[in-house]
Amino acid sequence: MKMWGGRFSRETNPGFLEFTSSVGFDARLYPYDLACGKAWAGALRLAGVLSPAEEDDIKEALGRIDEEFRNESFEFEPADEDIHTAVERRLVEMVGPAGGKLRTGRSRNDQVATDTRLLVMDRCPVVTEGLRALQEALIARAGDTLDVVVPGHTHLQQAQPVLLAHLLLAFVYMFERDVQRVEEARGRADSMTLGSAAFAGTGVDVDRELLARELGFSRPCPNSVDGVSDRDFVCDTLYAISMVMVHLSRLSEQVVLWCSQEFGLLELDDRWATGSSIMPQKKNPDAAELVRGKSGRVIGDLVAVLTILKGLPLAYNRDLQEDKEPLFDALDTVTGCLHVMERTIDTMSLDRERARELVEGGLMTATDLADFLAEKGMEFPRAHEIVGQVVTYCLREGKGLTDLTTDELGRFSALLDSEALRWLSVEESLARRGCLGGTSPRETARQLESARRMVSGHKPL
Ligand code: ARG
Repeated sequence: MKMWGGRFSRETNPGFLEFTSSVGFDARLYPYDLACGKAWAGALRLAGVLSPAEEDDIKEALGRIDEEFRNESFEFEPADEDIHTAVERRLVEMVGPAGGKLRTGRSRNDQVATDTRLLVMDRCPVVTEGLRALQEALIARAGDTLDVVVPGHTHLQQAQPVLLAHLLLAFVYMFERDVQRVEEARGRADSMTLGSAAFAGTGVDVDRELLARELGFSRPCPNSVDGVSDRDFVCDTLYAISMVMVHLSRLSEQVVLWCSQEFGLLELDDRWATGSSIMPQKKNPDAAELVRGKSGRVIGDLVAVLTILKGLPLAYNRDLQEDKEPLFDALDTVTGCLHVMERTIDTMSLDRERARELVEGGLMTATDLADFLAEKGMEFPRAHEIVGQVVTYCLREGKGLTDLTTDELGRFSALLDSEALRWLSVEESLARRGCLGGTSPRETARQLESARRMVSGHKPL
């Protein structure tokens, strides 16, 4: 059924109709469109536009349409331009011309904005759930690796020894900020557009406050022009999701690196890894790679909607129909990625022996030696210089810092004695980093406890 046509004297070109149609992707708005329809029927009855019997008939038919969608018996017709048209067409088929009264004082412009807001409000908590599950998996892994030391990197060069748990917790805190952003995005969507009609506001006497509460919104939007044309809530949601994807991508990169033979720290569970069609020895971290790749796609979704919005004059423009595919794509993608990452983290195994090998015999406690000299009163630039010479010596001799004797150390400064040698040990290096947020076993255990409380909804310690 066409919702317009009175002023046209020729039929729409069928190919063009297909070009303008959005039903192929906006059909998933049906639960929200039906909920809005029911609420609007109530508002129209209160305003005297519908009789109580008409209101009942319409609401009952909308319930049956819901059933049809759910058991997949709803049949679309070629002229169903979008989900709103399809629902109205079916409603009129069911209750007769009175069904058409539901369009009074309402426009697809305020309908689509309200439906989309309801979808965002529904789907954001699903993203939060996925984030929570992943945080819990990371926390569980951190809990059973509190004694595992690994090389920490800057510039992907071995830098300082850290606890693996400390690194895993870094991701837990990133995802915590993501939870906040996703919740904020939900809050942005929580403003009801219905009652804005095409853009100037509905001519029917409706109580928009009441309507908002009925639909689960905290408030109606305060300006009808803004209501139908604003999609910044879509961008807020896409940004929050993009940030989740960026964090997932970084975690993926870490997993990919740690799974390589060169690191050899992790092995993926067979159920969450893939092989090669030609190289029989391969076990590939495709899940992590795909998550990393999909982050590009979601960032693209955000950029697409920002670009769609940037030149739009007030109020509604059909360009806005293009917001839906990126939004739906990002929501689906992030939900799938969160699940796959959670399973990957939960099932991977760690090679503790290899972690020890990677940490031992290196140069990663050079900073500790400089700190030692600084503690003895030497100015840090001088200490840095001296330790640089110690490092050059180690490289030439093919030794690690902990292989040095007191004698060897003493050649570089009279301050370097047997106590300095102790400062070079990995255990001491970690233990000294007990500042808030540092990598000492005690402090990392405290962070872990704090993160556990944070994720379970309690105030962090
Ligand atoms: N399907 C459209 C959208 O997603 C809503 C229809 C508004 N069309 C119109 N001609 N006013 O934005």
